[in-house]
Amino acid sequence: MSWRVISTCPPFAQTGSGSLRKLRSAGCDVTNATAPGPLKGEALVAALAGADAMIAALDVFDEEVFKALPQLKLVSRWGVGFDAVDLAAATRCGVVVTNTPGVLDETVADLAFALLLALARRIHTSHASMQHGDWTPEWGGDVHGKTLGLIGCGRIGTAVARRAKGFNMRLLAVDLRPKPDALNLGVDFVPLETLLAEADFVSLHAAVTNESRGMIGEAQLRQMKPTAYLINTARGALIDEAALAQALNKGQLAGAALDAFCTEPLLRFHPLRSAQNILLTPHIASLTNDNGERISAAATEAVLDLVTGRKPRFVLNPDVLTSRALRATLAN
Ligand code: GLV
Repeated sequence: MSWRVISTCPPFAQTGSGSLRKLRSAGCDVTNATAPGPLKGEALVAALAGADAMIAALDVFDEEVFKALPQLKLVSRWGVGFDAVDLAAATRCGVVVTNTPGVLDETVADLAFALLLALARRIHTSHASMQHGDWTPEWGGDVHGKTLGLIGCGRIGTAVARRAKGFNMRLLAVDLRPKPDALNLGVDFVPLETLLAEADFVSLHAAVTNESRGMIGEAQLRQMKPTAYLINTARGALIDEAALAQALNKGQLAGAALDAFCTEPLLRFHPLRSAQNILLTPHIASLTNDNGERISAAATEAVLDLVTGRKPRFVLNPDVLTSRALRATLAN
């Protein structure tokens, strides 16, 4: 069967050449969307016209989008987060949604720990001042022996904990279900208030759900130590960004490093860009060449599976597999 596969995901175009060959030899017609993602609404519908399957950036899929794309059978997320996809609507419309868990955990953990080290040792500010021609030695704080609080301690949080263990850090975490791997590392699962009050570094690794959206707001920021740092390599929506900018400007906490934002790209004049003691990166947590190739291969595998009638490995809405709606789109 010849499927039209469209990618909205610039990293797939950059790292997916091997995957592209596989898709083409399976008879798929693969193109990159004319506009790079993340896309939503009409722009997304226009980009995916005629697509049977797509490799998705953080595009926003709601019921209207699915209904406007009757031929679409698969949204293969290039990455793990699927908060931008309405899974129930996908199931109703007969669209399989997959992601790529397990391949990117260590790479994201590397960035989270790099940001932690940079904040503590003032690497970003020292570098900026050197580039301005200054010589202003800055005092930082120790990392080893300090307390790290992980909000969300699944695969990525645990990978961060493993790095922190090498720095002899005390490990606290908040999670609904403490995982054996984290417990074996000596992670202590505590209530959020305890973590915020005791951690020197708070690192976010939770998914965005109705419960976790905005979980770090004004009140939670006030509970953190004034010497503490906040690191977010998960999703912007976990934090009240306006409250964070204010807290930083008032010196209520020592600093923050953010790789994810409520709206991406971050607006040019967003208050976070000029907040005190902030370190910003443009959602690069997964962006290493090795990891890009791994994710592209995993996202491609899902397409090849469905094209050849196999069940993809990581289906986020398994009910769709037995639904009439999927059978209808597969028949097209
Ligand atoms: C990155 O943000 C991902 O969801 O994998």
